[in-house]
Amino acid sequence: MSCTCILVWMILTGLEAEELCEASDLEKRKAATAINNILSVLTHYSELTGRLVSGKRCNSSGMVPLSSSLNISLGRIKQSFVLTNPHLPDMPIVYASDAFLNLTGYARHEVLGQNCRFLSGPDTDPKTICQIKKAIQSEQACSVRILNYRKDRSSFWNLLHISPVRNATGKIAFYVGVQIEEGGKNEGGKGLSPEMRQLGAVGAVKVAVRSLWMGAGTSKT
Ligand SMILES: Cc1cc2nc3c(=O)[nH]c(=O)nc-3n(C[C@H](O)[C@H](O)[C@H](O)COP(=O)(O)O)c2cc1C
Ligand SMILES: *[C@@H]1O[C@H](CO)[C@@H](O)[C@H](O)[C@H]1NC(C)=O
Ligand SMILES: *[C@@H]1O[C@H](CO)[C@@H](O)[C@H](O)[C@H]1NC(C)=O
Ligand SMILES: *[C@@H]1O[C@H](CO)[C@@H](O)[C@H](O)[C@H]1NC(C)=O
Ligand SMILES: *[C@@H]1O[C@H](CO)[C@@H](O)[C@H](O)[C@H]1NC(C)=O
Repeated sequence: MSCTCILVWMILTGLEAEELCEASDLEKRKAATAINNILSVLTHYSELTGRLVSGKRCNSSGMVPLSSSLNISLGRIKQSFVLTNPHLPDMPIVYASDAFLNLTGYARHEVLGQNCRFLSGPDTDPKTICQIKKAIQSEQACSVRILNYRKDRSSFWNLLHISPVRNATGKIAFYVGVQIEEGGKNEGGKGLSPEMRQLGAVGAVKVAVRSLWMGAGTSKT
C-alpha cells in the first residue's frame, strides 16, 4: 500500500504518523487532496440521499444528548476537539473528546453544556476572541492562536481551528473546534503539521456525522 494511502487512513483515524511512515511533503499534499475528495463525495452522496429519503429520516440532528452511535464514532478520534450546537442558547459543548479533557484538566460533566469561553482568561487577547466571534457569525472556518487556561489556571497557547459541520441539507448542524497545544507533545514533531492534524480531525468528525445521517436515511425501507 502506498504511503499516501496509509497517511489518509491515519489522518482520518487521528493516528500518529511517526512510526508507520516517513511521509514526504508531496505525500502529505496528496493525502490532503484525497481527504477533500472523500469529503466532497460524501457530501454529494448525503445530499442525494437527503433528497431521496426525506420524510423517512428520523430526527438525528439537534440531538440533546448526542445519539450513542455518534458518540461512539467520535470516541475513535484521538485528537482534542469539541462539538458545539449553534441551535441551543449560547452554543454549548455537546461533545468533548478524551484528549480535550486531558489537555484542559476538566471532567466531561464540567464542560458539557458550557460555552468554550471558559478556556479564555485574564491575558487572552480580546482581538482574537473577536476574530472567532466574527467567523462564527459569518459561518466561516477560522484558525487562531489563542491563550487559554486549564482548570488549574496554568496557561497554554492553543492553535485553535473552528469549522462549521453541515448536515445533509447543507444546514449547519454543529461547529467543531480542534485544539492543539503549541509546543505540546502533539503539536507535530516528526509527524504531521498542526494544520494537517486539524484538517484530519475536522475531516474525521464530518465523516462520522455524515455517515450517521446516511445510515439514518438508508437503513429504513
Ligand atoms: C466549536 C467551538 C470551539 C471553540 N473552542 C475554543 C477554545 O478551545 N478556546 C477558546 O478560547 N475559545 C473557543 N471557542 C470560542 C468561544 O466559545 C467563544 O465563541 C468566544 O469566546 C467568543 O465569544 P464570546 O465573546 O461570547 O466569549 C470555541 C468556539 C466554538 C464554536
Ligand atoms: C424526535 O423529536 C421529537 C420532537 O422533537 C422528540 O419528542 C423525540 O423524542 C425525538 N426522538 C428521538 C428518537 O430522538
Ligand atoms: C460517550 O462516550 C464516552 C467515551 O468516549 C463516554 O464516557 C460517555 O459516557 C458517552 N456518553 C454518552 C451520552 O453515551
Ligand atoms: C490522557 O492522559 C493519560 C495520562 O496522561 C494518557 O494515558 C492517555 O493516553 C491520554 N488520553 C488521550 C486521549 O490523550
Ligand atoms: C439539518 O439541520 C437543520 C437545522 O438544524 C434541520 O432543521 C434539518 O431538519 C436538518 N436536516 C436533516 C436532513 O438532518
